Amino acid sequence: METRTAIVLFSTMRQHDSAIAASGETLLDLTALRADTPGCESVIHFNNAGCGLLARPVHQAMVEHLDLEARIGGYEAADVRAAEVSDFYAATAELIGSQPGEIAFAASATDAYTRALSSIPFQPGDVILTTRNDFISNQIAFLSLRKRFGIEIVHAPDHHDGSGVDVDAMAQLMRTRRPRLVAVTHIPTNSGLVQPIAEIGRHCRDLDLVYLVDACQSVGQYPIDVDEIGCDFLTATCRKFLRGPRGTGFLYVADRILRDGFEPLFIDMYGARWTGPDTYRPVDTAARFEDWEFPYAAVIGSAAATRYTLRVGIEPISRRTPALAARLRDQLTQIPGVRVLDRGPNPAALVTFDVAGWEPVPFKQALDTHRINSALSYQHFAQYDFADKDVAWALRLSPHYYNTEDEVDAVADAVAHLAASRRTNEG
Ligand SMILES: Cc1ncc(COP(=O)(O)O)c(C=O)c1O
Repeated sequence: METRTAIVLFSTMRQHDSAIAASGETLLDLTALRADTPGCESVIHFNNAGCGLLARPVHQAMVEHLDLEARIGGYEAADVRAAEVSDFYAATAELIGSQPGEIAFAASATDAYTRALSSIPFQPGDVILTTRNDFISNQIAFLSLRKRFGIEIVHAPDHHDGSGVDVDAMAQLMRTRRPRLVAVTHIPTNSGLVQPIAEIGRHCRDLDLVYLVDACQSVGQYPIDVDEIGCDFLTATCRKFLRGPRGTGFLYVADRILRDGFEPLFIDMYGARWTGPDTYRPVDTAARFEDWEFPYAAVIGSAAATRYTLRVGIEPISRRTPALAARLRDQLTQIPGVRVLDRGPNPAALVTFDVAGWEPVPFKQALDTHRINSALSYQHFAQYDFADKDVAWALRLSPHYYNTEDEVDAVADAVAHLAASRRTNEG
């Protein structure tokens, strides 16, 4: 049970890491990176905001662990692979600029988020200050807290220039409403908008407010530094831009919050010691937010995915990935009938648009037939944002660094043909 928190660095280069070793400071070795990504042979995967394609070393690490479990037993395999399991914490901490003891493994970003939320002792009348672009499940969780505890949810207004939340207005609300929690989603699922989380964080630190950041779409796409953001909690999944396995995520809990005694509502035998018939004591680290049972193959796969990202380099990734999206957006903007919906000065690699004359499902299916992976968002995913934009649905295309410019052009061509076919039919 203790092995998970014993931090052992694990940085062995595996067979396929030649791809990364060949990556330059500013240029990525795309041929090698794509050779590392078997899915590239089958699909044009523009659904990285849903789930990135696994790299070979990640797949291999998980399969090896499952094999080991089958051969020697699940508990025993976890013991043998203690170093790799511990590396989940070391690698994640390195990625976001924290300490390993501030990281908890979670089953998903939502799992991490609700564990964090559950640690805040809300009282009736407490305020959660959030934005109009926070993620759907987070908004539903706030509404659930309102139903159960009588809290108040305040949405800071957006800036009139469309660049996201109005930070000055939000800071003013912090001062006047003294929220129990400030909660901001860095990049929402339904558009490429990037919210100014570090600017907001500076106000939270000045006013000593608890600050929870949902970085689900930004981890693995942009450099993330929890000290620069000034957050108390940060949540993410490993399966999207980190290219880890499904069913994984993490929660960062700042040391100050751990020392202040925040603990999840439901704390199990791994997060706490049962010190007497009537007493328990939470453990000191963010393991307080974890459960005893773990999908060890997925934890090891997540560690491998994060190491892979670190070796590719988050700086070159953060330059290439949004640039591919910008190229796509530029081409989509030229297509009659296509309305690109992303706002903000430097949108992320989530490209959203709708197409005149098409219903969402047939449009996505038409792209499927070209083996182009995409995702749909609907009005109920983004009650505020889609109402503001007056859209019922949007198709989301989300490239990643291993995609090519040729793929971007092929996807834009496919969209152009589909949009034109509907115009011809209607005409
Ligand atoms: C911004 C954002 N937050 C949270 C989530 C939820 O992640 P998970 O499905 O891992 O719970 C998503 C998923 O798309 C997301 O886009």
